[in-house]
Amino acid sequence: MIEYRNLRVALLGAGSVGAQVAHQLLTHRDELAARIGAGIELAGVAVRSLDAPRDTEIPRELLTTDAESLITGADIVVELMGGLEPARTLILQALSSGADVITANKALLATHGPELFEAAEQVGAQLYYEAAVGGAIPIIRPLRDSLAGDRVTRIMGIVNGTTNFILDRMDAHGESMEEALATATALGYAEADPTADVGGYDAAQKAAILASLAFHTLVPADAVYREGITEVTLEQVVAARKAGYVVKLLAICERLTDPATGVDGVSARVHPALIPLTHPLAAVHGANNAVFVEAEAAGPLMFYGAGAGGIQTASAVLGDVVSAARRHVAGGPGVAESTHADLPVLPISAIMTRYQIALLVADEPGVLAHVAALFQSHGVSVETVQQSVAAVDPLSGAEAPSAATLVIGTHEASEADLAATVAALTTSSVVHSVTSVLRVEGL
Ligand code: NDP
Ligand code: HSE
Repeated sequence: MIEYRNLRVALLGAGSVGAQVAHQLLTHRDELAARIGAGIELAGVAVRSLDAPRDTEIPRELLTTDAESLITGADIVVELMGGLEPARTLILQALSSGADVITANKALLATHGPELFEAAEQVGAQLYYEAAVGGAIPIIRPLRDSLAGDRVTRIMGIVNGTTNFILDRMDAHGESMEEALATATALGYAEADPTADVGGYDAAQKAAILASLAFHTLVPADAVYREGITEVTLEQVVAARKAGYVVKLLAICERLTDPATGVDGVSARVHPALIPLTHPLAAVHGANNAVFVEAEAAGPLMFYGAGAGGIQTASAVLGDVVSAARRHVAGGPGVAESTHADLPVLPISAIMTRYQIALLVADEPGVLAHVAALFQSHGVSVETVQQSVAAVDPLSGAEAPSAATLVIGTHEASEADLAATVAALTTSSVVHSVTSVLRVEGL
């Protein structure tokens, strides 16, 4: 066997994920070397504070606050600092020096991905990011390599562990949104500022990464339609379960044709949705993640597991370290990011899906026919109707004498037609209030 020199790895960050990566690199050196065909030398670990407590023991002499100098001469740079800066500048510096870079930083990729991929391509280096979506779950490599000969048509996934944990607590324990968020914070799932999670921003960044990769098209994070879970109520979650559904925050990326313009393109969206209790995604509990991929030849595939966690995410990072090291040993340029399809990113109005709408209406003759006519006049076909006597308005909590609740399930309709229907319902004289509008997926 040809002897190859040791490869120098610079690690930027030793927090939840970085400390675990350092530990694995130090303790599994020999095994990694055998798998790679070259030794891996942890050249140093850049941190903000040399004295901060660490989850694993890292030799003091490896720690430095000078990330820039650490990068110089590294073959592989692993960025686990998080945030946009100085991560972006340091990665650009590393790539321009010809080092391969590994990152778990979805916020950075979703914001500055094209600039970073371009920098890698210019020098024949490669940017790896398996840990940026789905934590430990292998999803980037399957999309990038295993399915590279197929045509991905749709991705539907639970890609944010914190929000899945919160919705699961509401469903299984009857906690309110505030109580469930407090539980998530106490257990260390939610950040001190949980806006990125509950606002759907984290999931939208992951959707942008998945859609770009799957459809060979640049999908920026701000082109992803986004609704978080902040408006989801316990009443909606309880009603969903009674009707055979569960509420999940979904990221959905799909190829589609805009029904209004006939334009073929792609769409990426993040929003709460009802899915049937029998759907495999309904069984994704706690902070776990799962991603459903549909491809023309492969059919449906599901990837499931820990979407976060220091040691779990370190597994995905280490896999990238091995890939990058093997590439160094084999030689040749890195694989460039493919955006050759360059499809238009369609607006949310282009999607087609089913909906469930709950209304508080006057309990009088002719009301049902009036409501049905509104749906019909906007081209939305009603599939199911359930009526029950309402005691209170679920929105205001006020008493609602002579009122009824209508829960209407639709056939597939365009988002634009549904929005027009809801606008008409809101101003209708027989409708007291539109109390819930949720998309229904996975039927
Ligand atoms: P942490 O906040 O736990 O750790 C960040 C580390 O980076 C710390 O060691 C910190 O140093 C160091 N750091 C931050 N800024 C600087 C700086 N300017 N110069 C030098 N060092 C710096 O982050 P995580 O480990 O949780 O996350 C790392 C990345 O992985 C993020 O991009 C995150 O989105 C991603 N990720 C995280 C997951 C998780 O479960 N935690 C899951 C999937 C992805 P010090 O310790 O001295 O403060
Ligand atoms: N905040 C993220 C989550 C961490 O809850 O899924 C993993 O990316």
